[in-house]
Amino acid sequence: MRNSYGDKFLIHGGNKLFGEVTIQTSKNAVLPILASSIMADTPVTIKNVPDIIDVDNMLRILEKLGAKIAIDRDNITINPLTINNAKVDCELSKTMRSSVFLLGATLAKFKSACITLPGGCNIGNRPIDLHINAFKKLGVEVEYIGEEIHFNAKKYIPRTIKLKIPSVGATENIIEFACLQSGKTTIINPAKEPEIVDLCNFLSSMGAKIYGAGTNKITIYGVDRLKGVQYTPISDRIVAGTIMCAVAICGGDVHIKNAIPIHNQSLIEKLIKMGCQINIKNDIINIRSDSNLKSIGKITTGYYPKFPTDLQSIMLVVSTVSKGNTTIHEKIFSNRFETAKELNLLSANIDVVSNNKVVVHGIDHLNGAVVRAHDLRGGAGLVLAGLVAIGDTIVEDIHYIDRGYAYLEKMLSHLGADIKRIRV
Ligand code: UD1
Repeated sequence: MRNSYGDKFLIHGGNKLFGEVTIQTSKNAVLPILASSIMADTPVTIKNVPDIIDVDNMLRILEKLGAKIAIDRDNITINPLTINNAKVDCELSKTMRSSVFLLGATLAKFKSACITLPGGCNIGNRPIDLHINAFKKLGVEVEYIGEEIHFNAKKYIPRTIKLKIPSVGATENIIEFACLQSGKTTIINPAKEPEIVDLCNFLSSMGAKIYGAGTNKITIYGVDRLKGVQYTPISDRIVAGTIMCAVAICGGDVHIKNAIPIHNQSLIEKLIKMGCQINIKNDIINIRSDSNLKSIGKITTGYYPKFPTDLQSIMLVVSTVSKGNTTIHEKIFSNRFETAKELNLLSANIDVVSNNKVVVHGIDHLNGAVVRAHDLRGGAGLVLAGLVAIGDTIVEDIHYIDRGYAYLEKMLSHLGADIKRIRV
């Protein structure tokens, strides 16, 4: 079990990046897949699981439910036969929003579930009303008792659910729940993210009948049982994007292996316009940059395949050292610009216009300072800023970064960056 509370990164900026890296498996794919493995009636093995804190927490929650977990290097086998408890551990669910992804799976399996309001990154309001309303429409009784929410699925009502927002988590929960019920459930306006498609591929390999993942309408026909399988989730498009942006600002020539280039299309188009050379061959992205970037003027986040909110904080950093002004609109989350204030401590010139909008005035270079991560992707952005800052940068509270990056410092130092973890 990893614990990196209090750890810091010490970064000496200025090195170019060269070589090759292999991208880890996607956090956002692996978490709902681990959660829904409990729906099988025989053991499930998930391969290439990344060594990240969110996975540790998910495994602890599954163990608390009674699942037997066996770890063989990066392959994890979940034996759901011993599961006996539908109550997601309250303390753990507070630390990780992904505990909410257990709802659909536990409801499908036990017909009842209980969670506390989930925790997660400090990026603004993260309500779960869409999840709860969808469950209610499907016949689930919901009761609030103090901090806990209790769910009881006595009678399934198969029907069409129209999501007013294509929420990733709500889409995943409805799919997980519906695939073990009887009847046809349809989701209109579901999330179309690659991680949704991967979850559906995983569930289908176990025997679920799901059609339309990745489109505007998903149809699920309930089945009686799901069987255990071995499954390798997709690679992480946000980690691949982070490395691309690191090379873009530092300069260098890097081969990014085990990527899925189409999942990073919106980022690749932007980086090319900004002056990077990018070549793609199968699952390898080669990025070359002389670090003289020009701004593309405007970046707006959106639902897939638009520009991902998870790469917004990373492109915020890229914009600080790109020639010209960049206006960044955050359209998914209500408060995802805490990192801008930290970047200004590194001499960046960012005007925070509102909770959803910043204007970045590109400058020649950043200067090292002590900064603090406020969330997972913003923390990774600060590490990138340290790589291009003159002098030393210390990034504090890197446990946020460890939630989703499997040792970001090892990947970057392998490419030539001067970055060290200082343990408490
Ligand atoms: C997932 C990802 C996260 C990514 C996000 C958006 C995982 C583990 N996390 O988070 O990395 O940044 O998708 O791509 O996969 N909303 C509501 N009510 C709800 C649910 C969501 O209003 O019940 C709103 C949210 O506040 C947000 C928007 O919908 O404004 C999208 O959120 P959602 O897609 O649900 O994000 P997550 O599933 O939490």
